[in-house]
Amino acid sequence: MPMNIAEIRQHTPACSELIHFNNAGASLSPQPVHQRLLQHLTLEQRIGGYEAAQQEAAAVENFYSAFAHLLHCQPDEIAYAESATHAWNAVFHAIALQPGQRILTGQSEYASNYLAFLQMARLKGLHVDVIPNDEHGRICLDRLAEAISDDVGLIALTHVPSQSGVIHPAAEVGRLAKAHDILYLLDACQSAGQIDLDVAALGCDMLTGTGRKYLRGPRGTGFLYVRREALARLQPDRIDFHSARWTAENQYEFRDDARRFESWECSVAGKIALGAAANYATALGMHNIEQRVSELAATFRNQLRGLPDIQVHESGSSLSGIVTFSKSGENAESLQQRLRESGINTSVTRLSGNLLDLPRRGLGDINRASVHYFNTEEEIERFCQVLLNA
Ligand SMILES: Cc1ncc(COP(=O)(O)O)c(C=O)c1O
Repeated sequence: MPMNIAEIRQHTPACSELIHFNNAGASLSPQPVHQRLLQHLTLEQRIGGYEAAQQEAAAVENFYSAFAHLLHCQPDEIAYAESATHAWNAVFHAIALQPGQRILTGQSEYASNYLAFLQMARLKGLHVDVIPNDEHGRICLDRLAEAISDDVGLIALTHVPSQSGVIHPAAEVGRLAKAHDILYLLDACQSAGQIDLDVAALGCDMLTGTGRKYLRGPRGTGFLYVRREALARLQPDRIDFHSARWTAENQYEFRDDARRFESWECSVAGKIALGAAANYATALGMHNIEQRVSELAATFRNQLRGLPDIQVHESGSSLSGIVTFSKSGENAESLQQRLRESGINTSVTRLSGNLLDLPRRGLGDINRASVHYFNTEEEIERFCQVLLNA
């Protein structure tokens, strides 16, 4: 069924107030998701937090089934986290990497992930190898294949980088990882909610994401997928009586599902609302969402390319809803500010947070406009007018 954009925009009240092209930063929650969050917070206030969680037990459990549906896996392979970074760190630090082992990653790996590699390289004597991009701006599969040897303990990839509109060939990387029995950790923070993700097809052992971006969930929420067969290779470095069972005075056992990576305390309202956001995306159809985001972003890039003094920073055929660009003679921050004053939200991607990728592409701070399915062609035209007049 085609998407009813007018109805979707009615679910998103801010659409009548502003143009939101910062979906890769934090998108706008649709009414059903927002209402679900408020409803639970109100219930907590009315009857007590523990009592509210008990009353809403089915909605809490929906979080796991909703994400299992979204990612095409089983509910016991899903865990809740308070951010993508928390989810990512929980599994990364659970891998028994040994001194001298190598981590292979891409040049557009997310900054916090790369910092964790650097920290572990320093503390544990690991090595980090950055596989360069090919001429299309995607991780070079030949170079990755060449870099694989017995001492590789992990392949980690950011599926859709936050600083460019490229989509990396995550499934091809998964096939290489599987062929060599190397653990594969996929950061799907920007792809979840805009790309139809199938963890079996991607071949990843672990996948992480956040709630507030393309999934349109609340801030302070995230999720983790761990392939059931990979659990035995992952020992969490944190423990509580939710992630583990205290079996005798001096004994414990971790849970045998992905929830071994959770903490007992969490935002129950956030968890319920994030489950509702996954349901909302699934009901619209991830295939429909992927197609519309891709078409809008292509229109956006085409229109930008036609404007004087504008450079679009990505090309190629495998592109996401993230559009990055610069305007000659105007720094990224002041352009963002001017757009904001015209009621258009965008963001700036800073060199300081992208020391691997932006220098290799000869770029400094750049502007980023990220579209979602509720955006329209008219909004893109308005954006271009403002850019021309700026
Ligand atoms: C690719 C990517 N990975 C991870 C993150 C971190 O997400 P969170 O802020 O939820 O920890 C981001 C956030 O911008 C991101 O773009």
